[in-house]
Order: sequence, then C-alpha cells, then structure tokens
Amino acid sequence: MSSPELCITIQCQNGKVLSQNLINFGEYTIGTSADNSIPIESEHVSRHHAKLSVTEDSLVFEDLGSSNGSIINGTSVKCPTIIDTNQTVQMGDLFLTVQTYSQNASTPRLHFSNDMVGSGRYTLKQEVGRGGGGVIWLSHDQHLNQSVALKLLPPDLENDPVALNDLVGEVQKARLLSHPNIIRIHDYIRVPDETPFVSMEFVDGSDLGTLRNQQPNGLFSWERLEGLVNQMCSALEYAHGEQIIHRDLKPANMMITREGNLKLADFGIAASTSEKSPQANMEGDASGTIVYMSPQQMRGTMPAPSDDIYSLGATLYDLLSTHPPFFKGDIHQQVQQEPATSLSTRLKELGITNNIPAHVESAVMKCLEKNPADRPETIKELSDLLHPGAHPPPPPIPPPEHIPEMESVLAEPIETTQKFLEKNIPPTVKSWWQTQTPKNKDIILVGVITGILFLAEIIFSKLQGDNLFDSFSNPRLFLPW
Ligand SMILES: Nc1ncnc2c1ncn2[C@@H]1O[C@H](COP(=O)(O)OP(=O)(O)OP(=O)(O)O)[C@@H](O)[C@H]1O
Ligand SMILES: [Mg+2]
Repeated sequence: MSSPELCITIQCQNGKVLSQNLINFGEYTIGTSADNSIPIESEHVSRHHAKLSVTEDSLVFEDLGSSNGSIINGTSVKCPTIIDTNQTVQMGDLFLTVQTYSQNASTPRLHFSNDMVGSGRYTLKQEVGRGGGGVIWLSHDQHLNQSVALKLLPPDLENDPVALNDLVGEVQKARLLSHPNIIRIHDYIRVPDETPFVSMEFVDGSDLGTLRNQQPNGLFSWERLEGLVNQMCSALEYAHGEQIIHRDLKPANMMITREGNLKLADFGIAASTSEKSPQANMEGDASGTIVYMSPQQMRGTMPAPSDDIYSLGATLYDLLSTHPPFFKGDIHQQVQQEPATSLSTRLKELGITNNIPAHVESAVMKCLEKNPADRPETIKELSDLLHPGAHPPPPPIPPPEHIPEMESVLAEPIETTQKFLEKNIPPTVKSWWQTQTPKNKDIILVGVITGILFLAEIIFSKLQGDNLFDSFSNPRLFLPW
C-alpha cells in the first residue's frame, strides 16, 4: 500500500501558522529542541514535548512528559492516544493538526470567543470540544435569544462537494428526529467566506469518554452504566424505527447532562464530516471511528442497524474494560478476521478488576460477532439481553464526576424558545371581516342586501316619479330608457 500524504500544521492561538511539514509512515518527535523531527519555538512547549506515530491504521499522539501537557478534546493526554485527521491537539500554547495533504489544502481555521458567524446571527462563546469532524462551540443565537452548539466543519470539507452533499442529506434526515435522548439538530448553515457549520441543541454536561477518563481505573462499573445504556437503547430503537442509522457510536458521541441523562450526539452527521484515519480516507466510503466500527461499515457496505449494534457493543466493551476490542496493530485486519477477546479475559490480561454480570458480558460479545446475523437482531433484543427479567432498569444517576462550568447559560428547553416567540413575534394582521363570528357575518350580509334593495327602490321611485314603495303594489320592469 502506498504511504499516506499527511501534513502536520502547528499554529498559535491567533491562527498564525508556525510550521507545516509533510509526513509519511513513521515516528515524529515535536518540541523546542533542534534534534526533534519537528522543532518548534514556544516558551510553553517542552524540549521533547510529544511524539506522533503514523502507521497504516492510525495516528497516535503521545505526550513525552512535557511540563505544560497536551490536551485532546478538553482532556489532558495521559497515555498514547489515537487521533483523527483534522483533530487538533493543544501542546502548551500551540495547536497541532494533522490533515491529509493536497496542493490546495487550506490551513486549519481557528475561531475565537465573540467571533460572529452565520452572517452575524451566532456569537461564539466558548469552545467545548474538538473532534475529527470539526470544532464544537457553545454559541448564542441572536434571533432566538438562545444557546446553541455549533459544529464548525473542518476546512478540508469546504473543498469537498461530495462530502458536503452527503452531510446536507444527513442533516435533512437527522433534523426529523425528536427524542429526549437524542441531541436535536437545528440546521446546516453555509454563507460565503465563512466556515460552514451545523447548529444543534447545546448539552450542558460532558461526554462519556471524558467522564470515563475521570474514573479511578479509567472504566465504569455496570451499575453506573446500566441506566445510561437503557437510554442509549431507547434512542437507537426510535431512530432505527425512523430508518436512521447513527454510524459513529462511541463514548465521545454520548453526552451526559448535569442531571445524568444521556443524549446521543452527531446522529448520521459525524460519519459524513470526518476522515477518520489515513486508511479510512484511502478506502473511500468507509467512515466512522475505526476502533468502534463494524466490519461491514469498514468495507463501506450499505449502513444497517447491525452496524450501530456492533459499535454499541464496542463502546460498552471499551467503557467496561478501558480499551475497545481491537486497539493496536492492524486494526482493519483484526476487525475483519480476529474474534474479539472476551471481556473477562481482556480484564485479566490488563490486570484490572470490574464486576461485570455474565449476561452483560455475553450480550456485549454477541454484538461483536463478525456476521451481522449472529448479533442481536434489533436494539430491542439487545436491550432485553442487557436487562433480563421483569424489573425495569434503574434510572441513571446524576454524574458524580466533575463537569466544568460553562461560561454562559445552560441548555434551554424548547419551551423557552416558544415563550420568547410568543412575547416577541407580533400577532398576525387580520382584516375586520376576518375577526367577525359566522353569526355576525350572516346578520351583516342580510343588512347590506336590504340596504342595497332600499337604495334601489329610492332611485327607482325617483326615476319613475312614483311614491316610495309604489313598485311593490304596482310591479313593473325597471326600464330607465
Ligand atoms: N451538542 C453538544 N453540546 C455540548 N457539547 C458537545 C456537543 N456536541 C459535542 N460536544 C462536545 O464536543 C466534543 C467534540 O465533539 P465532536 O463531535 O467535534 O468530536 P468527536 O465526537 O470526538 O468526533 P466526531 O467528529 O467523530 O463526532 C465532544 O466530545 C463533546 O464533549
Ligand atoms: Mg461527535
């Protein structure tokens, strides 16, 4: 296979590009010392700050014990971490982005608080996360006077009409979904000379990937997950019923509100906005994050509910054991051919304990079967396997983990928008006739007709030189000539 053409861009906070380097497979060290493969200058970056390993399957970023650390998706990097192309990593005060290289590739565009986008309708307030598919900003919508989340799309996408078209189709479908455990997609907005973006419901909370990193062993107990999994299943059952497949289920796309409820992010849209890895890019239409991706989705076959069932299984496997089923080496080959190691064996291999009930382990492993026919057929079936018996699963608990305060207001329910509209939109203009009741309209019509007849009689009797109402006693044709 030919090596990928990738470009590492290092930028300051104000967007100024400090360096751009073309890279292939191999290991690249980054830091202020001249002996690094990518030397950079900054007081806040260490001499040997980080290492980037580019293999056939993945891009892995590792912080080499730097003093100011590195941050991915708002979380400090503790161990080698798989990153996506277009995903930005903060190193000290600088930002590193790896993009697929093309002659006319644009530099990653950075935005800042109080920037206005969408022809001035939205004000960016605070960056809340970055992923392969863009940068998420808590923003203020001036028209609706409401907080929203904006997903500013990666610069590469602007030059890719096929991907943009795919995204528009996905947004059209996702906008129709209305479920308490699914983040509402509002719109796709593209105006000249601006980064296109998707506006959606803002969730005041955190995602399951970030919350998991706060756990003592980096994993969740089944008791903590059970209520959330029930909400995941409810959202997916509804969406599959509407013929919509998520295509990118993973911990980062599962948001948890401050109250502890789960909301699935990026329905349908994540897979069309991200080039998840050099490999995914090369294989054309395979999209979605590869370590959670079903063998069928990886091969680019028609999306099916069984893809989401596999990804949900891989996500639960990861959350319960610290790693997805396949995470090192040739992931493509393993996802296609190697049976997944059972959860209990994996925990033993990693020397970790987690009390996972046997029925949960067997349900998760069933989702990871290579053949879709061997997986639970529907989300309902999976849900029954995870929660057997007559007792309903417990409701989720408010997150005991730390969720950072957002600078601005919190998610507003749809009723707030309705009240705002009721107060601010002027009443529809109606004519006097439209305001009358049907009975009044009848009376008015009879009155008007009688009046016209009376007037006609006055004119007629004048023309004939008769007395008023003579025409009643002496009927004749009205012939003024
Ligand atoms: N609607 C939202 N409200 C609040 N925070 C959000 C919202 N959507 C995403 N986030 C946060 O932003 C982070 C980055 O999201 P983003 O979708 O860009 O990346 P990702 O989920 O890691 O990857 P992908 O692009 O594959 O979905 C998420 O991990 C989550 O913490
Ligand atoms: Mg996402």
